Amino acid sequence: KKVVLAYSGGLDTSVAIKWIPEKYDMDVITVTVDLGAVKDLESIRQKALKIGAKKAIVVDAKDTFVKYFVMPALQAGALYEGVYPLATALGRPLIAKLLADAAEDEKADAVAHGCTGKGNDQVRLDVSLQVLNPRLQIIAPLREWKMSRDEEIQYAEEHGIHVEAKVNSPYSTDENLWGRSVECGVLEDPWMEPPADVYKWTRNIKDVPDEPAYIEIDFEKGIPIALNGKKTEGVALINTLNALGGEHGVGRIDHIENRLVGIKSREIYEAPAAIILHAAHKALEGMNMTKDALRFKEIVSSHYADLIYNGLWFSAFHQDLVAYVLSSQRIVNGTIRVKLSKGSCAVVGRKSPHALYSEELATYQKTDVFDHAASLGFIKIYGLPVKTQSQKQMNVLSG
Ligand code: ARG
Ligand code: SIN
Repeated sequence: KKVVLAYSGGLDTSVAIKWIPEKYDMDVITVTVDLGAVKDLESIRQKALKIGAKKAIVVDAKDTFVKYFVMPALQAGALYEGVYPLATALGRPLIAKLLADAAEDEKADAVAHGCTGKGNDQVRLDVSLQVLNPRLQIIAPLREWKMSRDEEIQYAEEHGIHVEAKVNSPYSTDENLWGRSVECGVLEDPWMEPPADVYKWTRNIKDVPDEPAYIEIDFEKGIPIALNGKKTEGVALINTLNALGGEHGVGRIDHIENRLVGIKSREIYEAPAAIILHAAHKALEGMNMTKDALRFKEIVSSHYADLIYNGLWFSAFHQDLVAYVLSSQRIVNGTIRVKLSKGSCAVVGRKSPHALYSEELATYQKTDVFDHAASLGFIKIYGLPVKTQSQKQMNVLSG
């Protein structure tokens, strides 16, 4: 029998390469998915083989991730609980798809992953896998073995698995090009300010340049396509904004989050590109969409964020929301000017061929074309229900 294991190169999944054959008598094939986290993929592949994997596969999924997961989430304005750009959550359904594909190619009977039994990630992977291929057995060693962290390290040492010094890192992290997630250790005390070593992508405010950075971002149908007038797309655009934002200390999020499994957890995120792009995208929508469309979009955004967070990527409800979002984005074309300075990201300029904002309607100068006199009639009719109410019901309502 064969199992395809999602392998990160870290301690948990390295131990799983040894543990699964002992427990289940299966050959392990590892799949390492590159979603843009900076890592040495070839050495991860070699490590898997050295520990005992029969085959080790590496998949570059960066472009797929950006095109089919990240950009749609940006167009949807998907921020969980208004703040988390969902980097980890967006990666899971894609990882599930690549695991299911590899299982099919390799004629495997099972898939395995390194999620714990109290998080969101297990739900996202398992629910996605059940949709993609219900015949696959799902093995989650961390949900099954009773080893503590120390016992795990001991198991690794006994089985000749190289335990990096990094294992002593007090945090649990996950990263891809849309952001970095950090939890555990001292962060579990919600009163504790995150220590400096939590952050890897963003500079401390005391180390950022004094001079602000300005960037112009062009959008087409809600998708960013150029930086400072130069055509830049997808992975390259996100990498550039992560670097520039991080240099200016932009992109930190400290959030008490409601997990799907019912607990609150303290999460630290670094997501410079996501924060910049969401701010710019929302500003452009503000110029181009009607008030009603904007109000409705807020509802769509929050449902969209919830369904990504809650592991329902492969649902029909998602398809329905995507249809609405895509339709709403037809007029989201234009340029947004963003200022990065001392940890803040501010939209300071907007322009668009499809803007509903009209200077000659908004102005208080001589060029004004708004019909002031018409306001009188408007107010008379608009205020009629309130006026009538106060006349007819005053006694009852104030009594
Ligand atoms: N709380 C975030 C989420 O549910 C981040 C999870 C991070 N995962 C990890 N393996 N450290 O999306
Ligand atoms: C885990 O518990 O596997 C990571 C955290 C999460 O999934 O929320």
